[in-house]
Amino acid sequence: MDAITAITQRVSVAQLTGPGPTDQQLQQMYQGAFRAPDHAWMRPWRYLTIKNEGLANLGEIFAQASLQDDPSLTEQQLAKIQSKPQRAPVMIVAISHTVEHSKVPAIEQHLAVGAGIQNILNIAYAQGLGAIWRTGSMAYHPYVKKSLGLSKQEDILGFIYLGHVNCKLKKAPELAMQDYVKEWPPKA
Ligand SMILES: Cc1cc2nc3c(=O)[nH]c(=O)nc-3n(C[C@H](O)[C@H](O)[C@H](O)COP(=O)(O)O)c2cc1C
Repeated sequence: MDAITAITQRVSVAQLTGPGPTDQQLQQMYQGAFRAPDHAWMRPWRYLTIKNEGLANLGEIFAQASLQDDPSLTEQQLAKIQSKPQRAPVMIVAISHTVEHSKVPAIEQHLAVGAGIQNILNIAYAQGLGAIWRTGSMAYHPYVKKSLGLSKQEDILGFIYLGHVNCKLKKAPELAMQDYVKEWPPKA
């Protein structure tokens, strides 16, 4: 698949199944992530690859974090939360690591990581795999961040679920150019 097709036709896939990406496919995704535009080459990213029992452990962390927020959660609600990381065979946790810089504000460092995540999604699509970028309250929960070993300078920017497509692939929506793009200054 050529790059333009991958970038313009990529869609997110929520229903994913095994097998997960091969090590070689994951390596390609990370190489893509490392080619994100990055002001002053700060490399403000790091990634965790989570599979197998790691996903079960993360589910337990999600359940504990949710219980801290709401001790009245039922067994059933907790079981649902706990199962969430296992919606795909592999998850990449995308983490930003921001530092003070005279020319590069934190937002630019976050954007560089976001651009890397987009490269991961595009490469997964080009490899014929499915992927979806998720966050939700667990991405911002201090207990989850601590349990995954994040420092105070770090944030979770995404849980990227990866696997084989287990549904009909949706068609990429076609947005009308004129709704989002204008020439400036406007033509008289
Ligand atoms: C930062 C960020 C966080 C997101 N978090 C979630 C999420 O928690 N759950 C979800 O269903 N979609 C989430 N999305 C949206 C999906 O990744 C996806 O973009 C959306 O379903 C639209 O599908 P498409 O990418 O095929 O257009 C998030 C997107 C971004 C950029």
